[in-house]
Amino acid sequence: MKKIHALSHFALCTAIIGVGFMNAQAADETIRQLAKERGRFIGTILNSEWFNDAIEPEFEEIHKTQFNVVVAENEMKFDATEPKEDEFNFEKGDKMVKYAQANGLRVRGHALAWHSQVANWVNNYKGQKQKLLAVLKNHITKVVGHWKGQIAEWDVVNEAINDDYNADWRSTNSVWYEGIGAEFLDSAFVWAHEADPDAELCYNDYSIEWGLREGSKASFVVEQVKRWKKNNIPITCVGTQTHIEIAHETTPQNVRALAKALAELGVTLNITELDIGFPKGSAGKLTAADYAKQGHLYRQFMDVFLEEPNMGEFVIWGLTDAHSWLDEQQGKTEGLLFDKQYKPKPAYDSVMASLKAHPASEVKTPYPDSILNPPDTTAKDTTVKDTTVKDTTVRDTTVKDTSDAIKMFAIPNNISIHIAGRTLFVMGTAAKDSKVEVFDMQGRPIFSMENSKGVFDLSSIADGLYVVRVRSGSASLVTRISIR
Ligand code: G3I
Repeated sequence: MKKIHALSHFALCTAIIGVGFMNAQAADETIRQLAKERGRFIGTILNSEWFNDAIEPEFEEIHKTQFNVVVAENEMKFDATEPKEDEFNFEKGDKMVKYAQANGLRVRGHALAWHSQVANWVNNYKGQKQKLLAVLKNHITKVVGHWKGQIAEWDVVNEAINDDYNADWRSTNSVWYEGIGAEFLDSAFVWAHEADPDAELCYNDYSIEWGLREGSKASFVVEQVKRWKKNNIPITCVGTQTHIEIAHETTPQNVRALAKALAELGVTLNITELDIGFPKGSAGKLTAADYAKQGHLYRQFMDVFLEEPNMGEFVIWGLTDAHSWLDEQQGKTEGLLFDKQYKPKPAYDSVMASLKAHPASEVKTPYPDSILNPPDTTAKDTTVKDTTVKDTTVRDTTVKDTSDAIKMFAIPNNISIHIAGRTLFVMGTAAKDSKVEVFDMQGRPIFSMENSKGVFDLSSIADGLYVVRVRSGSASLVTRISIR
């Protein structure tokens, strides 16, 4: 982990003056205040250095003053939260959730199913479909369940599309795709929804800010969202990471086009990892004109964000140029709002100017008031409770749950049922307050249950072919299912 270098006395003084400068402005003139007035969330990551208490004090002071949404750079990924099979480590994530609750910040969870930063032990099950499904289901159920009601939104699947000009699923170097197939995506969304029905669920990817031309990643995303929505897979948002360079001037309008395409599907578009980097070689040679150009691009993204009604979060992948993955891994530099001395750059001023140019009365929000003004959580008991819903039904304890990939069944009246192993999910408008009856092939009733969650445990039913009837209000669906 990078050691913190003692800031020179001069730099520290400058940093404090810089921070002081911002604070000297009218108290309400922070990005956070203007974002809140507009029903939007603007924020950035907590770098890994923060989690290790190895970052300058200015970092947190600016973070909680200027922003109202937060995401962990690495500490909620698979390798961090489940370093050993079925042994979870939530300590660092809990630290961020506690910080967010104490400072009124919305929390994004990043990322549940991703080909990268998967714990090494998962690769022991390469190619074993049933086992990988059980591993992924267990991971998602335990991680989302642990922070149920505390994490507003999850990147359920991250970067599952290849970088080809004729986009398709990422089919190599992905233990999930290679072992399960594309079914892992649908299953991940359904399992995340089961673990926290109130969380918003995103598909997140990079290079989807390059336009909707035939074969592009962005158009592939839109096609998949159409399919997911049609099948009542519970996706609610798409994240465009938007890691770009100063020369990528067409990208703000491409993001607007993607927002409009997703608005037609009733899905939110969030900017989730924005940075606008300069080529690494330019470090130390950048001029005021360069920084102004960077500000202009940030301004355009913020204009698009505020003008598109289905955009909700604007997250920058770093607070200060002093701590950025760009320098460490990307061969780029200085892509953020605050410089290495924590002073605001023209990019910060541009974001503020865009917010002020879009009065709160003109900015629409995709969020209900319950999200914009949640009950005060600071008084919340912060001891980590086991929030998983205890299922009290007496169950056959022999190991049977061979978590299958989600299979979808017919959908008249916008009811859809999905079955995975021995769990039946009712999705769509009928999910709440649905009744499920299962009959054997001779029409004899063998199972009946109704509940408000839309999730039914069929583990008491022996393998075989059955007829299932789902009813909710006037809607009903009858279809055959195979349980094994
Ligand atoms: O924690 C270990 C530390 O113990 C070890 O001493 C050190 C040795 O290099 O490595 C540390 O792990 C590093 C980790 O960041 C935590 O700092 C990994 O090597 C390093 O690869 C990892 O990089 C992260 C990268 O994702 C990995 O893919 C970056 O910080 C993070 O900013 C970046 O974020 C991703 C998003 O999650 C997804 N979208 C792209 C974005 C940029 O790649």
